[in-house]
Amino acid sequence: MRYIGNKENLLERIASKFNKFGIHGNSFFDFFAGTTNVGRFFKERNYTVSSCDLLYLSYCLQKAYIENNDEPQFKKVLPYIRPINTVLCATPLEKIVAYLNEIKDVFGFISQNYTPLGTKHLTQPRMYFSEENGLRIDAIRQKIEEWKNLQLINETEYYILLACLIESVSFYANVAGVYGAFYKKWDPRAIKRFMLRPIKIYNNNLPNEVFYTDSLNLVEKSYFTTPAGKHIPLAKYSDRDAYKGGDKSKIISIPDLVLLDIRNSEIITIEGKKYKNRQAGIKELAGYEAFDNLYLEKYYPAHRILRTVVLYGSKQDRIIEVEIGFLLNEKGKMVLGIYAPKLFTRAIHNLLDYWN
Ligand SMILES: C[S@@+](CC[C@H](N)C(=O)[O-])C[C@H]1O[C@@H](n2cnc3c(N)ncnc32)[C@H](O)[C@@H]1O
Repeated sequence: MRYIGNKENLLERIASKFNKFGIHGNSFFDFFAGTTNVGRFFKERNYTVSSCDLLYLSYCLQKAYIENNDEPQFKKVLPYIRPINTVLCATPLEKIVAYLNEIKDVFGFISQNYTPLGTKHLTQPRMYFSEENGLRIDAIRQKIEEWKNLQLINETEYYILLACLIESVSFYANVAGVYGAFYKKWDPRAIKRFMLRPIKIYNNNLPNEVFYTDSLNLVEKSYFTTPAGKHIPLAKYSDRDAYKGGDKSKIISIPDLVLLDIRNSEIITIEGKKYKNRQAGIKELAGYEAFDNLYLEKYYPAHRILRTVVLYGSKQDRIIEVEIGFLLNEKGKMVLGIYAPKLFTRAIHNLLDYWN
């Protein structure tokens, strides 16, 4: 799909960094999903994928490609539509797409705003889509909405059809890449007859999740990933009423970062601080009790929990405090603490090997 910032051509390079830096895991969060290319890539590699974007277009793609695992059956709507000649053994989606490619043109939002037909009054009528294709896109878009309103298609089927439409229009749009401007002459692809194309369905049999919001909302809310890859929102208080009643110890301190070391069955909870604030960091480690009880011990009972402080800044190249796992100093030197978690030692060795 043509989409600015599409990472399609970088996927193998992204994956190769995982190998180089020894990053392992079974869940993947794509906070800027866009076309969903990145999410799909990791979904195909059996990660439980979560993804988010604040653009509705992307949400539709995410619902169809990331969250959904099943070939849509269109059981309710298929009996209602006139069968169209399709290839032998056509899937239900292919049958629906063939039908939508034959329905009558309709003048609607796209024709009105994005084709010369609806914008004749402007000094430069808009040429995002040819008049013929605008009418066809409107007809398909409205039919999908009509089926949804009549409950002839379910939510997943609805988003799958929207994803087919979103993917297809990009092959006929008279634009260079984004819809901020259109070509003033017709590109050959834009005057071809618009044909809806079925999307490919990706199935990893895992509970993938998608979100339509500013990703910062998810980060600020804080989620915990269970071993099954489910994201559960973190509670703010161990006892909300007691906290509201004045017992400030009932707030749950959440580590800045939680790392899972699968190889050594360890979980590392991390407080990040500037070097000069290291004592405050060490103090904060003591407050992770509720977090450990509620999440780590519950969902990862066989793992050893390590708490550590990670620092940056200063000219120091030695760490004395045992609670400190790592320091990145102002000279760029990486210093491991006396009891640094094994995962840190391994990651730094891998990094140095890579640089050398
Ligand atoms: C470069 S594009 C998409 C890249 C994507 N990896 C791909 O291959 O298609 C960046 C995406 O981030 C989304 N985005 C930007 N800021 C965001 C935010 N604060 N929360 C959620 N999505 C955001 C945009 O809507 C856009 O779809």
